[in-house]
Amino acid sequence: MIRLDKYLADLGTASRQEAKRLIRAGRVTVDGAVCTAPEAKLAPETAAVCLDGVPLRYAKYRYYMMDKPAGVLTATEDRRQPTVLDLLPPELRRLGLAPVGRLDKDTTGLLLLTNDGAFAHRVISPKHRVPKVYLARTDGMPTAADAARFAAGVTLGDGTRCLPAKLEPLPEEGTCRVTVREGKYHLVRRMLAGCGTPVLALRRVAIGALALDPALGAGGFRALTEAERTLVFLEKSS
Ligand code: URA
Repeated sequence: MIRLDKYLADLGTASRQEAKRLIRAGRVTVDGAVCTAPEAKLAPETAAVCLDGVPLRYAKYRYYMMDKPAGVLTATEDRRQPTVLDLLPPELRRLGLAPVGRLDKDTTGLLLLTNDGAFAHRVISPKHRVPKVYLARTDGMPTAADAARFAAGVTLGDGTRCLPAKLEPLPEEGTCRVTVREGKYHLVRRMLAGCGTPVLALRRVAIGALALDPALGAGGFRALTEAERTLVFLEKSS
């Protein structure tokens, strides 16, 4: 059971204070009856709550995908630089969303945001080996020998051992696809730099079998469907 004002705030419909005002103004009904008590308790999964006659659907956790643009930090706040949270409207910023893992400031592409910590942990943790797929533009072209080293698990210059990864050259000169199953700092950049082919541009295009929606455009975002949430933990058949 949760309080009615928290129910509205959890939906992102209003801040807690705004929710109290809406409720006191008699604009909220619970199971067909006007409720003016913000502290009234209800069962969120089963209660029928309407705001101005419009039914609301409760969801404790929210999941979004964003096409992260370059030049924006993957963080919830920063005193000097814009973060991915700054790209969201106020009603989504107050949901307690956080980025799932990190993309470098200059990396673009698929970033998940959620307030479901267990989901985020499952995506990030190397234990679960969720594939993250990147398109890289490099100075020079990695070789078949590099691809074999990736498959065996490379050791970076500082001695860091990496999990086996996939390196696939693409038809366009100086481009390749890299699939990794862990999230070490600057991982793809360091792996490709180790082949003598430094990264010029990096874009994440998929997590598991979930592909970035090409309709979003830089800085665009949208909620994930339930089906898309499960795709994150599936392997894309290639
Ligand atoms: N690997 C990198 O080097 N950078 C990223 O942003 C993501 C993976």
